[in-house]
Amino acid sequence: MTLAEFLARADHLMRPFVALLPPHTAVQLYSQGRNFFLEQFFADAQPHDTTPQELATELWGLRFRSSLFNAAGIFKNGEGYDMVYRQGAGAYLAGTTTTYPRTGNSKAGIAKPFAPYPRSRSASNWLGLPNAGHAEVAKRLSGLPRYNDFPIGVSIMAAPESSGRAALEELVEAIQMYASARVDFIELNESCPNTSHSDEHKSWDAMVERLEFLAEHALRKRTQRLPIIVKYSSDTQQEQIAPLMDILNTLGYDGVNFGNTSTRYVHHAERIHHSERRLYDYFTQTFGGGVSGEVVKGDALACVHHAAEYCRTLRHDREFHVISTGGIAIAEDVRTAQQAGASVCQWYTGYFAQFAVHGHGVYRHINEALSRVGGMNNRL
Ligand SMILES: Cc1cc2nc3c(=O)[nH]c(=O)nc-3n(C[C@H](O)[C@H](O)[C@H](O)COP(=O)(O)O)c2cc1C
Repeated sequence: MTLAEFLARADHLMRPFVALLPPHTAVQLYSQGRNFFLEQFFADAQPHDTTPQELATELWGLRFRSSLFNAAGIFKNGEGYDMVYRQGAGAYLAGTTTTYPRTGNSKAGIAKPFAPYPRSRSASNWLGLPNAGHAEVAKRLSGLPRYNDFPIGVSIMAAPESSGRAALEELVEAIQMYASARVDFIELNESCPNTSHSDEHKSWDAMVERLEFLAEHALRKRTQRLPIIVKYSSDTQQEQIAPLMDILNTLGYDGVNFGNTSTRYVHHAERIHHSERRLYDYFTQTFGGGVSGEVVKGDALACVHHAAEYCRTLRHDREFHVISTGGIAIAEDVRTAQQAGASVCQWYTGYFAQFAVHGHGVYRHINEALSRVGGMNNRL
């Protein structure tokens, strides 16, 4: 057992008792402990697991070893690439990165606040997009070894410090930087709840303006295959989905991802285990942040379902894919997301919960289950 596996397993056994601590202490402990764990995790070495061939799938002419890979935010600065390749992930996603490096949020004496709700298979975070910046991460990604069937993606977002045309131009520059770093796809994060972006930035009109600007100055100027997908929150309202799909398709985007963490704290509260409610209420009232894991699964799936259904009614002259993120933890979740219309799936909270049980065998375990149930697309 490696050090990261040992820490994750010990944590798995201890976690149910965390909610017994005073909530502030629990968040402090977990926020600090998480940073220490991640350092060991990124540096961990493990044997190479093969991914069953029949799980491979193809999107935009790119071959993915399987339909499941990490969601944005785990490898913010391009860490852990070889590790997840060896674990058997379907692809690799770095970021979210911003123009300027960010250290992340601090409040009430706690840096990068995080709280797990293990009995509810969920979590809260108010990290605030800590990252080393587009330029630094692009440099790192450009130096990574490349493997067959293992595309590299990166998630990007407009810097909260920038506004107006400067912010838009910085996003175009980020796309150019990552194109030069030869990443295979880009995910535009339009849904982080943890940054100080202005209300103006978060408005529908500003979002559409960004999409139009990027379409004109980046999408239509692409000289190489570089699919760009857009990630929205699992809180996206059903009536917003058709207009969103119309805009993305008309402008030439290549896909959509539902979704990011939720800020519908009251809506999710009843699905938080009663023993974890005190911690949940403390976190959401003190920091706010984004809720992830099992409690957001239903809403994310509903978005995927509506988007995929609507997209089937549109005339396509190119590929457009719907991606499912939110509450994926076991093979059954992947299969359900695919039945709802997802081409591929990403996981975060469920990935770490499964790592605590299976260690570096985390993908082997789910891939074997997916092979047995025939849950992947098996398009090749
Ligand atoms: C600690 C943490 C950090 C995250 N950071 C990012 C991020 O940098 N960019 C992003 O697009 N999403 C980020 N997310 C959201 C996840 O990518 C994912 O969309 C969300 O957690 C729902 O998936 P899950 O239920 O599998 O966790 C983060 C989530 C967590 C829990």
